[in-house]
Amino acid sequence: DEAQKIRASLLEWYDQNQRDLPWRRIINHYDHQHQHHHSTTIEEEEDARRAYAVWVSEVMLQQTRVQTVIDYYNRWMHKWPSLHHLAQASLEEVNEMWAGLGYYRRARFLLEGAKMIVEGGGGFPRTVSALRKVPGIGDYTAGAIASISFKEAVPVVDGNVIRVIARLRAVSANPKDSVTIRNFWRLAGQLVDPCRPGDFNQALMELGATVCSPLSPKCSFCPVSGQCRALIGSKNSESVVVTDY
Ligand code: ADE
Repeated sequence: DEAQKIRASLLEWYDQNQRDLPWRRIINHYDHQHQHHHSTTIEEEEDARRAYAVWVSEVMLQQTRVQTVIDYYNRWMHKWPSLHHLAQASLEEVNEMWAGLGYYRRARFLLEGAKMIVEGGGGFPRTVSALRKVPGIGDYTAGAIASISFKEAVPVVDGNVIRVIARLRAVSANPKDSVTIRNFWRLAGQLVDPCRPGDFNQALMELGATVCSPLSPKCSFCPVSGQCRALIGSKNSESVVVTDY
């Protein structure tokens, strides 16, 4: 069906075109298919390491462009390579590291969250509902960590994702309206690939950032132009019927 086509095309595009970003380099050293006999501890440690990296990068990316984030991310991870290192930091150190990124609450939430997770002793929270209990982790960050690090099939919705889905569905709505936003979370939840939710979510964000740009989308390079109701509608000048996936 339509959603299945979108998933396949988008993931294939992402496999070939994803940017080489430092937080994507924390790969699984672990081969899930051949290592069933290993204790789950090592695997869980690696998951947690990746979750920490994803958390730091996604919080930085919320208000700041990728190119700026890369340097801040590398410095941060050099100083505090794990959640346990971060939990020992002071607010002054964290704010100093954040200098220039703005919205300093984000740095304080990272520190408070790290302390809370370490003190809880239960390891890195692995689901959206558990992650949402950490100070400063909202729907966006919880969705990003759960899908990218723990393969929970949940959506992630930011401004780029709203624009991409709005065009795919030919929805015209105010993207700042809370009812609209909830609607996009629902649509994104129907679309997310159940096998590769993290890659799928990052592919949607990446498509919005690089191809499906606000003013002049590069539709000839778009892997899902064949499923884009806005593009099809603009060719046929027909009205478009919007249905769920
Ligand atoms: N923007 C925010 N997070 C992102 C990610 N993980 N990949 C691509 N773009 C993003």
